[in-house]
Amino acid sequence: MNNACIMKKLCLTILLGLHLGAGAADLANGQRLFASRCSSCHSVGPFARSGFGPQLNALFGRRAGSLPGYGYSTAMKRSNIVWSDKTLTSFLDDPDDLVPGTKMRFWGMSNEKQVADLLAYLRSQQQVQLR
Ligand code: HEC
Repeated sequence: MNNACIMKKLCLTILLGLHLGAGAADLANGQRLFASRCSSCHSVGPFARSGFGPQLNALFGRRAGSLPGYGYSTAMKRSNIVWSDKTLTSFLDDPDDLVPGTKMRFWGMSNEKQVADLLAYLRSQQQVQLR
């Protein structure tokens, strides 16, 4: 094997590594983001309860504004949204733009990588059984 070939293999390996790294969501980072950006108002996990904001277990496929016992804004209840990667990405980017009149006060999060990590973390709480 000549040097050029070795270099080529090395480059390919590195490129592939970078590519996989960029594609895979980072759950630990998602958890950190949830803790720093969402958990003052929301909770997830077996002990999650709605508080200032609704609890966010099993969020994917949930109709917006549908948890019994939580006092949503009329705007959220009437929004007719089902939470998915697409609707959550748009909501997090600008809550008041997707749901005008929502009572969630949040500046927005639009960094694609951060949103992907955060959504992967939320998805990991999809099957949680409440205790
Ligand atoms: C300052 C408090 C606050 C912060 C911070 C906050 N939220 Fe909210 N969130 C709320 C409130 C209040 C509502 C209810 C909105 C309504 O009824 O209009 C809500 C609603 C939601 C809903 C709709 C849930 C449902 O049952 O339909 C989602 C999804 C959501 N928030 C996700 C997030 C995520 C993810 C973060 C962090 C990136 C976050 N929120 C940060 C207060 C907050």
